[in-house]
Amino acid sequence: MMFTNIWYVAEESDTIKDQPVKVKILGRDLVLFRDENGKAVCLSSVCPHRGSDLSMGKCTSDGTISCPFHAWHFDGSGACTKIPSNEDSTGNIPDAARVDSYPTEEKYGYIWVFLGDEIENATPILDIPEYDDPEWRHVTHAVTWNCNQHWAKEADLDHVHLPIVHGIGFGGENPLRPPEHTVELREDGGFETEIIGKPDITSGKWLELRDTRSTVTSVFKYFIPGFTSRGQVAVGGADSGIYNTFYQFTTPIDEENTRMYYTFFRNFMMEPENDLEHLRRNCRNVYQDKSLAEQMMPKRAPDVPTYPQIGGELVDKLIGVYWDLLQDLRSKGWQIDRTELEALDKVGDYRTIPSPARREQGPEKWVYGEVPRVAATKNKQRDVA
Ligand SMILES: [Fe+2]
Repeated sequence: MMFTNIWYVAEESDTIKDQPVKVKILGRDLVLFRDENGKAVCLSSVCPHRGSDLSMGKCTSDGTISCPFHAWHFDGSGACTKIPSNEDSTGNIPDAARVDSYPTEEKYGYIWVFLGDEIENATPILDIPEYDDPEWRHVTHAVTWNCNQHWAKEADLDHVHLPIVHGIGFGGENPLRPPEHTVELREDGGFETEIIGKPDITSGKWLELRDTRSTVTSVFKYFIPGFTSRGQVAVGGADSGIYNTFYQFTTPIDEENTRMYYTFFRNFMMEPENDLEHLRRNCRNVYQDKSLAEQMMPKRAPDVPTYPQIGGELVDKLIGVYWDLLQDLRSKGWQIDRTELEALDKVGDYRTIPSPARREQGPEKWVYGEVPRVAATKNKQRDVA
């Protein structure tokens, strides 16, 4: 279950230098490169001429990318600017010699790409105030999880697993039961909750941060762009002002694989020699979740989660709110129709994610059609207690 009309993290900024880099997102091949001004460009990587992979080509001095097969040049807008084998090339470029170009923004150490054709209706990239604030220091990590994006995401949205998988208890009579919490829906389509726990710090340098009897408040926020989770954990105790604040960005490679990007901030132990401990503590949780998520069944997420059929009290509200949000995105007509797309792929009808330019230029200007999407339905109002 994958969605268009979302801003995704496409790659870490540092990775894109002077040669093209291939990325796969939403099951489609894309190429990232920099134009003559250094601006990040993201194009569909399938050449409209003979279907070659543009990412195997070269960046040229005029800021275009040249196809590895016949050296057609494509600029940042996706337009073909040169066909070297045509004698007087500028006057001899067919109208349909163009590929989808997706809007990019370079923010917070990442290249973000908008994959869709309705940018005006989409939620803009979130603010990350810690990034440029000298009070905070950060470390990053990126890893591919061999599971669908929703099983990966649930690791961040599930409170009940915290004591069981990570040993992060809630205190109270039943330390396995998350305390009562409400989930707030925000204007931007995201949601958030605060939860109070009493986890033990049992080892390492962070032991000195907190008296083990004190409670810890954790605020979890969820954003549609990047399918981002933000967790802010007061590791020094509820009123300490000492936080481990993490951002997790989720990029669906395809229906069964997910690229996970992490930026972990801290506002304590600012010396660089503490970076490794900061990364180690956070990554320990990441890899515990990853090993579970990669074995979960089914491999593909169904459109409707199966567990509410079990009945009874769910305890953790975040998961339910997340699935309501997915339902909302589907009702907008943004979900890729995977059954139909796979049928088209099987008979050699290649489709691309439609870019904003498709609507301006009309469908006849494109060699490849667009991915089929689940039809929009009337918007369902979400509400949460
Ligand atoms: Fe977890």
